[in-house]
Amino acid sequence: RKLRWAWRLGYLSAIAGIVYIGYGVYQDRHPEDQVEPDPSKKTLVILGTGWGSVSLLKRLDTENYNVIVISPRNYFLFTPLLPSCTTGTIEHRSIMEPIRTILRQKKARVRFYEAEASSIDPDRKVVRLIDTSEIRGDITETEVPYDMLVVGVGAENATFGIPGVREHSCFLKEIGDAQKIRKRIMDCVETAAFKDQSPQEIDRLLHMVVVGGGPTGVEFAGELQDFFEEDIKKLVPEISDRFRVTLIEALPNVLPMFSKQLIEYTESTFKEEKINIHTKTMVKKVTDKTVEAEVTGPDGKKKTVVFPYGLLVWATGNAVRPVVKDLMSRIPAQANSRRGLAVNEYLVVQGTRDIWAVGDCAVAGYAPTAQVASQEGTFLARLFNNMAKTEALEAKISELSSSLNLQPGNSAAISHEIEQHERQLRRIKDIKPFHYSHQGSLAYIGSEKAVADVTWFNGNLAAAGSLTFLFWRSAYISMCFSTRNRLLVINDWLKSKVFGRDLSRE
Ligand code: FAD
Ligand code: NAI
Repeated sequence: RKLRWAWRLGYLSAIAGIVYIGYGVYQDRHPEDQVEPDPSKKTLVILGTGWGSVSLLKRLDTENYNVIVISPRNYFLFTPLLPSCTTGTIEHRSIMEPIRTILRQKKARVRFYEAEASSIDPDRKVVRLIDTSEIRGDITETEVPYDMLVVGVGAENATFGIPGVREHSCFLKEIGDAQKIRKRIMDCVETAAFKDQSPQEIDRLLHMVVVGGGPTGVEFAGELQDFFEEDIKKLVPEISDRFRVTLIEALPNVLPMFSKQLIEYTESTFKEEKINIHTKTMVKKVTDKTVEAEVTGPDGKKKTVVFPYGLLVWATGNAVRPVVKDLMSRIPAQANSRRGLAVNEYLVVQGTRDIWAVGDCAVAGYAPTAQVASQEGTFLARLFNNMAKTEALEAKISELSSSLNLQPGNSAAISHEIEQHERQLRRIKDIKPFHYSHQGSLAYIGSEKAVADVTWFNGNLAAAGSLTFLFWRSAYISMCFSTRNRLLVINDWLKSKVFGRDLSRE
């Protein structure tokens, strides 16, 4: 009988789950009518549609401001699953969420301009923007004035000025990068399989070099080796013993932000997967077919090594975007900041009063991660919602105070109302500074294994292996932006498992 009840309960929960998802999907497809923004309210301009800006937008009460979003990308990108798009484990559209869909869910209308902010003038309080898309109208450049500005433009790829990097390597930051890599992998494979190709050229073409042993480089190398082992090897057997993946890292080990045991686990898993790791190897020059690096030997002596390659993926971290550099140069208080906009504990850009910064372009003392960016965005939404409430309460208090003189007979009731508002105001005004709560770090390392350093009851828990891989998958599924994204990603995982990845080169 107990079993029957358990079945019934399970059955009911499944129905409840389906109804819940169905209702969510219905609401997304049939949003309520939006109110027009009130022109007398402040103009809040938000730059970017990444982790920081979108988590701010998600929780912002848009009816309190005239909100304008400016970004060259009209979608949010779930970056943690981007490495899986390079091999077709996940299709790129599964991890994109159109910004128009996100903005349509807001109570008051938000304007969106697909454009790049080219400069910010903090004195005139205007943002200059340029339409950089392929199709241009009569106007390609204009200005948007702001009362409040949030800079969430992220970062660009660091190349450290190393010659040849920009011209010859692929980066891994945007959807276009992942598509380019996917195409190149298959181009290298098909070219290596071309009739009468020399053995030396086959070795070069099938040598996939990844520079940077941070999480981006490690996750990509793992995905690439999976692709080769599970699909390419089976479908193009003639090249199966020639495919090699090499990871080059300047420091003595990969994944420096993980604990020692997880670093060792990753390095030994890579060895099993036949991914070559070259640590203490600093790339100095890149040509169209080779990577030149300086290797520091155990005796401290340096020598130059040349790696011929077919595909080169450059993943050496972040650099400051030109629009941020330009803004920093206009604010004297930013003179000593090198890695981005220095912000205070309320994320206000130091040296300004009405500019805030979130995510990879802000220097708040945290690592440039999605976790940090999204918590910062959420914090700003709370701050701005509170600021709007504060202004409304202050206006109400001043209106009530002036009516005190006009209606002396009502003074007790009015005083009581003022007191209530003042109490509410004190509570709202008491906003604590931004505090980052670290949930842990996760990384996929190939062969259905992952490493995780997670915070557990105020302590740290390090885990690695196949169970951690399941945890990694479920964590990222739960973090996906929408139900649509979740279903698409699950579908892609099933599809690539059952039918294999698609080897066609678009
Ligand atoms: P972004 O998300 O990069 O967004 C920046 C936005 O600004 C974009 O919409 C961009 O189009 C827009 N923009 C750019 N220039 C301009 C301009 N001039 N004007 C207006 N808009 C502009 N972090 C984790 O915590 N966990 C992970 O698993 C993880 N995996 C990652 C995997 C990869 C492959 C990469 C590349 C990063 C990963 N990260 C991860 C890091 C994480 O993606 C970043 O820290 C995060 O995206 C930063 O958010 P952001 O909002 O600052 O910038
Ligand atoms: P990173 O900055 O974490 O790592 C770059 C690596 O490249 C460094 O280890 C550096 O020593 C190395 N390097 C730099 N120049 C080099 C050279 N010339 N030759 C050889 N090696 C060189 O960069 P990454 O991996 O792109 O990550 C950026 C940010 O995004 C980080 O904060 C990271 O934590 C986050 N991220 C998090 C992920 C996760 O949690 N799973 C996944 C991907 C990124």
